[in-house]
Amino acid sequence: MTGKITVITGPMYSGKTTELLSFVEIYNIGKKKTLVFKPAVDNRYGHDIVSTHTGFSVKAEIIARASEIMKKITPEFDAIFIDEVQFLDTELVEIAKKLAFQGIDVYCAGLDMSYLEKPFETTARLLAIADVVIKKKAVCEKCGEHRATYSYKIVPDGGEIDVGGKDKYIAICRDCLKQLKST
Ligand code: ADP
Ligand code: TMP
Ligand code: MG
Ligand code: ZN
Repeated sequence: MTGKITVITGPMYSGKTTELLSFVEIYNIGKKKTLVFKPAVDNRYGHDIVSTHTGFSVKAEIIARASEIMKKITPEFDAIFIDEVQFLDTELVEIAKKLAFQGIDVYCAGLDMSYLEKPFETTARLLAIADVVIKKKAVCEKCGEHRATYSYKIVPDGGEIDVGGKDKYIAICRDCLKQLKST
């Protein structure tokens, strides 16, 4: 049987990593062969772990390029999980397809948009080929409603790739973004 491609996306704090790790747990309980990856650029929580904003973590393979995934897995794997896909090159899209054809399930989590409201290309392309898309929302940090779809930068521009957490970004909804833009 072929595998399936699942993409979990949304703004910061929407629970992407939490959901990714809950899928890891499901496969692990079933004694499936899995591997978790994350790009080298995200150095927030130590070097070889994928971690949620609440501090829950699992061990991960650190990769600089998507092509490194192929070197680390064999056909016996049941599923692979990749966090922060927005930081990986677009070769990940072909790799995800290839693995799915080989019968391996591929789970990707990553930001849909940067704080500039621009789509991250690797995530956007993965969304196009996904079998299952899970689009998550965060709690808006201005109005408190569970409808935040944007990651808003609260510090001076550090570039479109700028690793951080609550020190740099908040999650907000479109109404609150509109308000912020008009002030
Ligand atoms: P993501 O990977 O999407 O950034 P995580 O799975 O790492 O998200 O973290 C989700 C957790 O972040 C939530 O369970 C919650 O405890 C915490 N959190 C902090 N700020 C918010 C927010 N604005 N909305 C929702 N959850 C938040
Ligand atoms: P998160 O989705 O797990 O919260 O992680 C998002 C990471 O991406 C975090 O390190 C901050 C970073 N980031 C950017 O580099 N550029 C951006 O435009 C945004 C919104 C986040
Ligand atoms: Mg995350
Ligand atoms: Zn709001």
